[in-house]
Amino acid sequence: MKIITIIGARPQFIKASAFSKKVLAQNHIQEILVHTGQHYDENMSTIFFEEMQIPRPHYHLQIGSGNHGSQTGKMMEKIEEIVLTEKPDALLVYGDTNSTLAGALVASKLHVPIAHIEAGLRSFNKKMPEEVNRVLTDHISDWLFVPTKSATKNLLNEGIKNDKIFEVGDIMYDVAKLYANIAEKQSQIIHQLSIEIKSYILVTIHRAENTDNPQRLKNIFESLQILSQKHTIILPLHPRTKKYVQELGISTQNLQIIEPVGYLDMIQLEKNALLILTDSGGVQKEAFFYGVPCVTLRDETEWIELVENNYNALTPPTSVDLICENVAQMLSKPYPIIKNLYGEGNTADKIIDILSK
Ligand code: UD1
Ligand code: UDP
Repeated sequence: MKIITIIGARPQFIKASAFSKKVLAQNHIQEILVHTGQHYDENMSTIFFEEMQIPRPHYHLQIGSGNHGSQTGKMMEKIEEIVLTEKPDALLVYGDTNSTLAGALVASKLHVPIAHIEAGLRSFNKKMPEEVNRVLTDHISDWLFVPTKSATKNLLNEGIKNDKIFEVGDIMYDVAKLYANIAEKQSQIIHQLSIEIKSYILVTIHRAENTDNPQRLKNIFESLQILSQKHTIILPLHPRTKKYVQELGISTQNLQIIEPVGYLDMIQLEKNALLILTDSGGVQKEAFFYGVPCVTLRDETEWIELVENNYNALTPPTSVDLICENVAQMLSKPYPIIKNLYGEGNTADKIIDILSK
């Protein structure tokens, strides 16, 4: 079986590190890896391929940044050429980025069956570009690989047939298990930043609904200033956020702003943090994998089981006081006993088995 896999953004490289390596190690599936170039900075792309030994993409489309329509359209044009040339048996996409939708739309129009990893997640907020990307992708997919029970429920509620849905756990847990020990041995980040274990708050911000809304972005940085009076704040700054922070002249004094880091450094920063403050999907779960309390700066989350089980405090960044209160509250209460929410860390194997059959 020949599949084309579309990747393009940081979390997709990270997910591919588990799946593509497993595919290379077996004989049933041949994978053609296509990198759209949605993320292109050295520390948003190349670093992951190098340190996680992700197979080199067969095609690099170098699309780069742009408005949603233009970026997605340019990707589609080039992906279509590749699908027509390669004639795959299936096309595989991850998550909910513009690269995901571009790949899925092309495959659908050429009647190539689609496999969607991380299907079924919903925020029920159609203003999020990701929500539109994932809903559309799910409704044209043939294999919907869902990470959680709530994702299965969402799909059934939307009328998607049960026989297309495969609850296989979360591939991000595979990745966390694969690299935890390697990161421990190789990463020097804690030493390099001269920070003390469990003394700092790790922050990541990149969601459009926060970065593109000046009031929300200001609230986030004002709360970080307040929190910095008590704790070191480490913030690997996403390029999108950097742009808006600079444009709005938001103060970053007292904060330890660093460039985005590779996955191995990121794991070490997460594991050793006192608390994680984030609007990232992946980082919310990694906080849980490492038993670190998390405050999610959003109105809703797709990973509702983290909130329901009190690992995560969902906090819309509409009030500085609310952010600071929720951080204090999460720090004052004991971390709940860890449950198994995301499978066994063998999601890639399960997906390969299902596709092979
Ligand atoms: C994208 C995804 C989001 C995902 C995130 C992971 C969409 C709609 N959004 O958001 O779901 O959570 O990736 O990180 O697909 N930029 C650079 N260098 C880069 C990449 C981006 O400078 O290597 C800057 C550019 O100014 C660009 C902006 O960041 O316009 C946003 O990049 P883009 O890929 O459009 O969206 P993300 O916010 O990264
Ligand atoms: N990540 C990283 N370096 C960073 C910030 C994040 O390696 O500086 C990793 C993080 O550990 C997680 C993934 O990127 O595995 C999450 O991606 P991101 O937050 O960009 O997107 P999302 O998961 O929200 O789609």
